[in-house]
Amino acid sequence: MADTALDLMVNGEAVRRPVPAHRLLREFLRDDLGLTGTKIACEDGMCGACSVLVDGAVVKSCLVLAAEADGCAVTTVEGVATADGLSVVQQSMIDHFGFQCGFCTPGFVMTMTALLASGRRFGPDAVREALVGNICRCTGYTSIVEAFLAAQRQHDQLRNQQPDQHRDQQRDEPGDGPGEPEAGGKFAADG
Ligand code: FES
Ligand code: FES
Repeated sequence: MADTALDLMVNGEAVRRPVPAHRLLREFLRDDLGLTGTKIACEDGMCGACSVLVDGAVVKSCLVLAAEADGCAVTTVEGVATADGLSVVQQSMIDHFGFQCGFCTPGFVMTMTALLASGRRFGPDAVREALVGNICRCTGYTSIVEAFLAAQRQHDQLRNQQPDQHRDQQRDEPGDGPGEPEAGGKFAADG
């Protein structure tokens, strides 16, 4: 089968290269681009370890062809940190001991990042529901949920310091909503 010419953004950088039509997005990111922060476990869409953002939506990269991301903006865990250092979510996972082996952590970080970016606000129950697509086999979820809630508080503080930038973002009451990130691109959030 002929290769597909991919033209997309990955972590803010333009990437153009041919890929086999059957190449999975996780193979493209890890094997072709060397972005091994995206982890592979179940390869069946169940664990969320391979989660990345495609046009802001959480996508399990073991279920998506690289060709499907053509023209999109892909963010992996390598692209989450800012020029100032770790992102709010990353730092909160450290501060609240949200991992042990860390294998699931990139996937959780990507989902949490999308939740914060959605502009919605999550209470503890809504966070648990929103994270249902990510599985951790060793930490337990209490510390992970606490890490998200702390990151959300930090995010709120930063937003309040920049009211104009976030004026139009939607806000739900704590505990409301199914906890899914929203996106306007061709990828629907799959949690
Ligand atoms: S490796 Fe993709 S969901 Fe588990
Ligand atoms: S920290 Fe080990 S699987 Fe989650």
